[in-house]
Amino acid sequence: MEFSGGDPDLVLDPDFDGDWDLKGRLSGASNATFLAQVGERLGVYKPVRGERPLGDFPDGTLACREVAAYRLSAAAGYDLVPATVLIDGPFGTGSLQAWVDPAEEDPVQVVGDGDDLRDRIPVIEAYGRFDEPLWVVHDNSDRLRELALFDLVANNADRKGGHVLAQARPDGPTRIFGIDHGICFHALDKVRTVLWGFAEEKFSDHHRELLQRSGEVAGELSELLSITEVIAIEQRVENLLRLGRFPEPVEDRYPFPWPPL
Ligand SMILES: Nc1ncnc2c1ncn2[C@@H]1O[C@H](COP(=O)(O)OP(=O)(O)O)[C@@H](O)[C@H]1O
Ligand SMILES: [Mg+2]
Repeated sequence: MEFSGGDPDLVLDPDFDGDWDLKGRLSGASNATFLAQVGERLGVYKPVRGERPLGDFPDGTLACREVAAYRLSAAAGYDLVPATVLIDGPFGTGSLQAWVDPAEEDPVQVVGDGDDLRDRIPVIEAYGRFDEPLWVVHDNSDRLRELALFDLVANNADRKGGHVLAQARPDGPTRIFGIDHGICFHALDKVRTVLWGFAEEKFSDHHRELLQRSGEVAGELSELLSITEVIAIEQRVENLLRLGRFPEPVEDRYPFPWPPL
């Protein structure tokens, strides 16, 4: 199914109490996730009631983490997460995120031997069913660097390729968006991402500004996250600023999401 009419910059109304039209359940989602027409807007609704319990995250907190990710992205200047609000929907409280119309080319892809790598960076080497070599690669773009930085600050435990969307714009360059931030902001290091291709690169001045601003606005997330989690954001920012570059993946646990796409 294809949907059009999504505008990730539309700020959704958290107090909307008009008609909802649930257009369908999104397949491939691990939680109960619905495509919804909410008044004029097309959005992704994830009711708290449909959240799958996880061993390491407190129950019923994923929707707040989705909203916290949007607020961090907007307030710190990353501008990488589609507008997301907490809303009282047909299945109760949940997150509602503006829909992004996907573009033709995904920023994260699997390529084989004969494919042109272009400027893309390989991050995972694997073998296909017939032992043919395959690589998970991602674009080498500044916006993707900023998303990788955002994930380090948000402690994103699930940055799969499918959670990076590109939106072609008729009047400007393609935009990048990150989605599915339900398992971000744990107080302990959980980063699992496919965007490790920038490891060891030094931060630019712009990256340092984004980090500083992230530290400044972290306190604004205290109604959505626990105080320990807010302090942990500030600590991650401090550590990253001290390190001065994109870190390498840790070695004591698997640093990629599964599946990677
Ligand atoms: N804001 C969005 N814009 C466009 N597609 C989306 C958006 N949010 C989710 N999707 C699509 O729906 C799928 C499931 O959503 P996701 O957020 O990954 O749910 P879950 O938390 O259950 O894994 C995504 O992989 C993506 O294809
Ligand atoms: Mg998902």
